[in-house]
Amino acid sequence: MRNGVYTTALAPGARRAVDSLVEKCRADDGLEMPIHRFPDGKQETNQFLYFEAGELVGVATLPPGPEIEVLGVVRPDCRMRSIGRNLLVAVEAECRSRNADSYLLVCEAASKSGCAFAERLGGVCEFSEHLMEFDWDAGPKLSEVEVIELHAARSQDLEDLVHVRRDQNQNVDQSRRIIEQWLRSEAHELLVVRRENHAVGMIRVTRSKNEIWLNSFAIDGSYRGEGLGRLMLANVVRDHDRSRRILLEVETDNEPALGLYRSAGFRESTTYRYYRHTLTS
Ligand SMILES: CC(C)(COP(=O)(O)OP(=O)(O)OC[C@H]1O[C@@H](n2cnc3c(N)ncnc32)[C@H](O)[C@@H]1OP(=O)(O)O)[C@@H](O)C(=O)NCCC(=O)NCCS
Repeated sequence: MRNGVYTTALAPGARRAVDSLVEKCRADDGLEMPIHRFPDGKQETNQFLYFEAGELVGVATLPPGPEIEVLGVVRPDCRMRSIGRNLLVAVEAECRSRNADSYLLVCEAASKSGCAFAERLGGVCEFSEHLMEFDWDAGPKLSEVEVIELHAARSQDLEDLVHVRRDQNQNVDQSRRIIEQWLRSEAHELLVVRRENHAVGMIRVTRSKNEIWLNSFAIDGSYRGEGLGRLMLANVVRDHDRSRRILLEVETDNEPALGLYRSAGFRESTTYRYYRHTLTS
């Protein structure tokens, strides 16, 4: 194989090569490197691979989602040789083909090389998120937590859930479309808590071999401040055991949510910076 960047679907061979590259970088850099993590359980993605002398030495991945996000890594002994830059040239061509004028490069704050690279290439940090993991040793005693009923959401819950999410920076139609997709999807479980026959709290739970992801957690405005959120999280966690990491992401400036997650036993395990890269014409 010639040196250079190739696009690929996730063929099994390519997937194994990417896995071992990511594992090597995880071990050397001490980073999370969430390259293969697709919280929606989807596998199809755009992936750009960089080969040198037939070996995979760099990868950039664009997980599915409404916004183009890019995660990437170059093998430690091959850095500072423009491989990252070349991968981003391929990413930019992909953005153009999707008529996008920018993308977000995701870097762990702890990665000096990642942040220096993103800034050198003109990225501007737009926001940051903590990855939080449930700490089984510091979290609340789950055996003592009040049990509440969590129900699988039904199509009849749609309007209640639109109402629950009404203050989340989306217009109502957009929100309704997203919730309809969640109700149809089998990639996750959409759980709700009901009060007086109405869904007043929701959370999406996505399970993979080693991880459980909690997303789209929201409590209706009129039910906040009563401990329902903490109770809901504890009841989700108590259905699992230590064999899998329980993870969620939260924007670093969302103090109320951060406080709730900490008090529910979650701890920050890394911080991601999202660098906006605007394409030049
Ligand atoms: C970030 C990473 C992908 C960069 O790959 P790379 O192939 O070494 O980057 P390049 O050689 O293409 O560098 C492009 C520019 O960034 C700069 N840069 C890259 N790493 C840097 C570092 N550690 N410190 C300072 N500048 C750096 C280079 O000097 C170069 O600028 P120049 O062309 O003006 O000289 C690689 O360091 C890496 O895998 N880091 C760990 C994983 C990570 O953090 N990924 C997130 C980023 S997507």
